[in-house]
Amino acid sequence: MITVFGSKVGKEEIANVSAVLESQWMGFGKKVTEFEEGFAKRLGLQNFAMVDSGSNALFLAVTLLKLPPNSEVIVPAFTWVSCAQAILMAGHTPVFCDVELDTLNVSRATIEPCITKNTGAIMVVHFAGKPVDMDPILELGLPVIEDAAHAVDSTYKGKPCGGIGDVGIYSFDAVKNLTTGEGGGIATRNKELIDRAKILRYCGIGKSGFEAAAATASQKNRWWEYNITEPFIKMLPTNIAAAIGLAQLEKIDDLQAWRKKIWDIYQTEFRDVSWIITPPDPEEYEKHSYFTYVIRVPNRDKLARYLFDAGIYTTLRYHPLHMNALYKSKAVLKNSEILNEDSLSIPLHPNLTLEQVSLIVDTIKKFEK
Ligand SMILES: Cc1ncc(COP(=O)(O)O)c(C=O)c1O
Repeated sequence: MITVFGSKVGKEEIANVSAVLESQWMGFGKKVTEFEEGFAKRLGLQNFAMVDSGSNALFLAVTLLKLPPNSEVIVPAFTWVSCAQAILMAGHTPVFCDVELDTLNVSRATIEPCITKNTGAIMVVHFAGKPVDMDPILELGLPVIEDAAHAVDSTYKGKPCGGIGDVGIYSFDAVKNLTTGEGGGIATRNKELIDRAKILRYCGIGKSGFEAAAATASQKNRWWEYNITEPFIKMLPTNIAAAIGLAQLEKIDDLQAWRKKIWDIYQTEFRDVSWIITPPDPEEYEKHSYFTYVIRVPNRDKLARYLFDAGIYTTLRYHPLHMNALYKSKAVLKNSEILNEDSLSIPLHPNLTLEQVSLIVDTIKKFEK
């Protein structure tokens, strides 16, 4: 079966992980700091902290904003569940907004109808790595959380996605453009917020491991005592994950080039197929990350089944959140509901061969709607 998502690791990741295992220091440590510095440098972020998942980074991001309890946070319906779960877990209410049918992103036009006096923040998602049009949204004057889980290589008007709003998050899970197995991170231009994030990620203590304790020991007795500043859970990343990430950072340009090559083949091959709606290419002021390639087709379910039977796995990203009973939403979001019926992510990842890409293209073109 050809998989729909995927990452690619090789001997460099294996060597880095082996070195960490041999060092006998597998948990949080120096490799994490090294990865944080490398990632921040690569993207041009002022402050960046790694955590153990993108989902937890979202929870941390919402917490960092210190919104009044039960604030409304506007979030796209067409996104991963962690976005809404993070808002709820932080004691707030997700308010689902629609996305644009072409970009699959929120816009000022889809956000504005959801703003009330209780709106505390806006969460945007750079879907598939296509940057959200940030400027008109920032002009609304509300705190903005950027979910850049798909967008490690994306820029908007020269700025790194995830580093434009008040807080941004990244995911390094097993199928993301840059993987650490599981992992995530948080970025903010506000030094105080990143300092707080680093405290919160370790149960609100803010120091971790032998080295931190040893550093304190030279200054005072009872170095094992600590101040817990806020109630929070643990979301520390490991040296093992960071070591994988360090190897991925070295090869991210090649990984991205391969994703773009496949994306371009799909664009060329499908653009003139009358029954397929292809995604928009990036604007000249944008850089895309090509996380997933989404087509819109009539008879989507039949196409998915036909491709599955031909050994090609596809999926819908994402079942709209406002349609999930848990959230008790009464929203009617036309575009998200259309996408729920006609959109399909087809395989795009760095392990795909050009032969597989040709097979995917040919098989789709032969589909009898
Ligand atoms: C848009 C989006 N946000 C957040 C996440 C959560 O990231 P993680 O899997 O690292 O928890 C994902 C994961 O798929 C995602 O797609």
